[in-house]
Amino acid sequence: MRKVIVYSSVHHGNTEKLVKSIAEECQVDLIDAVKQPDADLSSYDTIGFASGIYFSKFHQSILGFAEKNLPDDKGVFLICTYGGSANYKSIEQILGKKHSTAIGKFGCKGYDTFGPFKLVGGIAKGHPDGKDIKNAVEFVKGL
Ligand SMILES: Cc1cc2nc3c(=O)[nH]c(=O)nc-3n(C[C@H](O)[C@H](O)[C@H](O)COP(=O)(O)O)c2cc1C
Repeated sequence: MRKVIVYSSVHHGNTEKLVKSIAEECQVDLIDAVKQPDADLSSYDTIGFASGIYFSKFHQSILGFAEKNLPDDKGVFLICTYGGSANYKSIEQILGKKHSTAIGKFGCKGYDTFGPFKLVGGIAKGHPDGKDIKNAVEFVKGL
């Protein structure tokens, strides 16, 4: 069973920190959706999409990637980091179009200095932390 996580992490590298730790502990390949917007997923059985949340959505690079490159009939899981709250709707809409549903979802806080939060030194400082990472690794192992 080959697994891959397609990720995008443009704010503070929060999501990248999580997926790199997952890749160290699980047999998972990583694809950065910004650097490889046309990667071929056909050889994978299980595909994860991981992203920060931007204006309540997964990053546009992930949404564009999934729309274009996600083959039908794959097991899909979702991971996000967020300052306020998780939101999977944007990516789930695309899964719906591909007749797919997520087999699992994981989210945790990620350091956020967007807009007014910058004035107060950011929110969710220090996240993802060791516990977040441990939970994320357990999530992928349990899929
Ligand atoms: C432009 C922008 C918009 C954001 N919008 C939201 C949002 O709508 N909801 C939320 O909970 N967090 C929001 N955040 C916070 C990020 O989701 C959070 O910091 C995330 O961990 C960033 O992941 P990354 O470092 O992997 O890019 C936003 C951050 C930025 C920069």
